[in-house]
Parts: sequence; C-alpha cells; structure tokens
Amino acid sequence: MSARVAVLASGSGSNLQALIDDCAQPDAPARIALVISNRREAFALERARLAAIPAQHLPRSRQESRQDYDARLVEALQAQQIDWVCLAGWMLLVTPVFLRAFPSRVLNVHPALLPSFPGLDGAAQALAHGARVTGATVHLVDEGCDTGPILCQGAVPVLPDDDLARLQARIHRVEHRLYPRALRLVLQGQPRVQGRVVYFDGQPQARTYEWFEG
Ligand code: GAR
Repeated sequence: MSARVAVLASGSGSNLQALIDDCAQPDAPARIALVISNRREAFALERARLAAIPAQHLPRSRQESRQDYDARLVEALQAQQIDWVCLAGWMLLVTPVFLRAFPSRVLNVHPALLPSFPGLDGAAQALAHGARVTGATVHLVDEGCDTGPILCQGAVPVLPDDDLARLQARIHRVEHRLYPRALRLVLQGQPRVQGRVVYFDGQPQARTYEWFEG
C-alpha cells in the first residue's frame, strides 16, 4: 500500500507540483493525501485543488504559540492518517510537538547546499557571498533551522551574470528533480540515521544523485 504523504507549503508550491506529478506515476510508492498552507493566498492550495487533493488553509493566529499551532497541525495530519510530511516552502519553523508526532518522517527542501546558507533566502545568500557553486538539499527535519541529516543534494553553478531570479530558477529546476527522488529514497531505501549521516540499505549516500546544471 502506498504511503500517505502530506505537503506543507506557504507559497507557490512548485515543489508540491513536482511531488504531485511524481506520485501520479504508476510505480510511485506514495500518494499526496493532504496539502496544508498557513497562507490563504498560497498557490499551493490551488495546485492541490486542481489535482483533486484535499487542501486545508490553517493559519496561525498572532496570539497562538508555535507549539499550540503545531498541535493543531498534528491533529489535522493525524485525522487524515498521514505517514510522512514534506515541507515545501513551509516558512514556519516546526517544534518538537510536531517532530515527536512524525519521528524521522519529516522532509524539507532548501535552496542551498547545506550546511551553507541555511535560513531565509538561500539563493540570495549565495550571491551575496560570491559563491561559485550552490544548489539544493533535501534533508530530514530536526529541531534546528535546516540542520537535519542530508538525504540528497544537487549542485548548480553561480554564473557571472546571474541575478537572483536566474539563480533561483536554476535551483528550482534541481529541487523539482531532487524532492521526488528523496521521497522515493526514504520510502524504498530503508534509511537509517547514524550521527549526521543517513545510510540507505547499509550504504552512506548510496543512490543520492548529484547534478550540476548550467
Ligand atoms: C523553494 O525554493 C524552497 O527550497 C524554499 O522555498 C521555495 C519554495 O518554492 N524553502 C526555503 O527556503 C526553506 N528554508 P515553491 O513554493 O515554488 O515550492
């Protein structure tokens, strides 16, 4: 039976779309069973509706603590029997309340080669630092900000005439290949975390592709 995956997205949801498209393949080990956004205007919600996936707008109120919000989030996810959660442009930090409900079952995509450039605006940070190479990372989520064990990475060059939009677009193209790949890996490859390293079928980094795109 295929795993029930929820995607949490705050924005356009292009990574959500990549996951939806991959999960529509006949050999997909997962199906996207729920999409949640904290922002009503997030295009991710529209993408879910277009794909006939249940979509929920779950805003966090100003007075609500992060823990209380996460408890509501967990309730919504458990009500749909969700097995795995993919953060895809989810712009809220998750708390232990959330992680305890899905231990080692929360993935995130980040627009940089972690541990470089965590936090906000990964692509802008790469430009500001004059980095020659950057990329995208899919990792398991822990309590830190973009600090969890790495599952997959893809690299792209930073070209001399790049502006932010061009670099972001190049990173996005890698993310869209990387995220479905990472989800398949964790569902099919029996990941085991030792220290900071994820082993698949006993081998570190086996089958985690790296790309270099112009
Ligand atoms: C993606 O580039 C993702 O890596 C980034 O937000 C974008 C969402 O795009 N996430 C972070 O920066 C999290 N630290 P999308 O809504 O089109 O998928």
